Amino acid sequence: MAKGSTLDRIFVLELVRVTEAAAVAAAALIGRGDEKAADAAAVEAMRKALGQLNMNGAVVIGEGERDEAPMLYIGEKVGSGDGADLDIALDPLEGTTITAKAGPNALAVIALAEKGNLLNAPDVYMDKIAVGGGYAPGIVDLDRTPAENITAVANAKGVSPGDIMVCILDRPRHADLIKAVREVGARIMLIGDGDVAGVIATTDPSTGVDMYMGSGGAPEGVLAAAALRCIGGQIQGRLLFRNDDEKGRARRLGITDLSRKYTTEEMAKGDVIFAATGVTNGSLLEGVHYLPGGKKYTTSSVVMRSRTRTVRWVKGEHAVGKA
Ligand code: FBP
Repeated sequence: MAKGSTLDRIFVLELVRVTEAAAVAAAALIGRGDEKAADAAAVEAMRKALGQLNMNGAVVIGEGERDEAPMLYIGEKVGSGDGADLDIALDPLEGTTITAKAGPNALAVIALAEKGNLLNAPDVYMDKIAVGGGYAPGIVDLDRTPAENITAVANAKGVSPGDIMVCILDRPRHADLIKAVREVGARIMLIGDGDVAGVIATTDPSTGVDMYMGSGGAPEGVLAAAALRCIGGQIQGRLLFRNDDEKGRARRLGITDLSRKYTTEEMAKGDVIFAATGVTNGSLLEGVHYLPGGKKYTTSSVVMRSRTRTVRWVKGEHAVGKA
């Protein structure tokens, strides 16, 4: 057991088994046009794999509220029931549409932290801004304009705003944001889905992405925050509510200040482990691939820990029917 933490180091590799199981199950549905079936397969596989972990886990970010999700709903207990009390944020298939359409960057993701350390975010939108590692804390801020944030990052990087690449989800709701980013001269990488991968892309210079901006799912915001805690980088998030029902969801989870701006640490505190396995090929990870003959398949995963900042890239080769 790591000193000062109830997170057992053993979970680091165990968690990869969990995301691998979900990714492989979802991969069987790549390109089949059925988002729901792909998600259901990933959920079932992830839940089964979680059941083998020696912990008293509670899902804090999951597939939805108890009455709307049959499995891995918020509050569901997972694991053997013995061992440490842990919070779990998960998305067995981040990118259901991507998977259905065989697009890039679908992932199976999970984050683990000590009880009380992950933000219990409701399934509503969250306004997000993120940058990779190496910048002064607070370099970007949701309360500043896109021009101010892009200029601050450009200055810190020693380049002009025109050299900054911003990743944004391609949605009509982002028309004003896209206009403002273009006006300052920055470049935009528009993605169809998958903003966990979009945020993480800011931490990897090979992606060319410097910043992530715009609104996406709040649960995905917490998962991205968990990853950035481990790999470096900053994210800010603020919940966005479209109606009273969504506000009620937040209140039921104990959120009283509905306009609060959350920092990376406020979304994922303390010692955090984050793991992801690629479902389809992406900037972070390769997808699940079957080897010629169809008897073996490979998986690509990453698992990282905030306490040690260790990032492990795990390439698995599995025999069909034996894993
Ligand atoms: P799903 O895997 O649940 O379909 O989420 C994909 C995603 O693109 C997320 O990455 C993102 O946070 C969210 O959907 C954006 O929501 P919307 O499609 O409503 O803009």
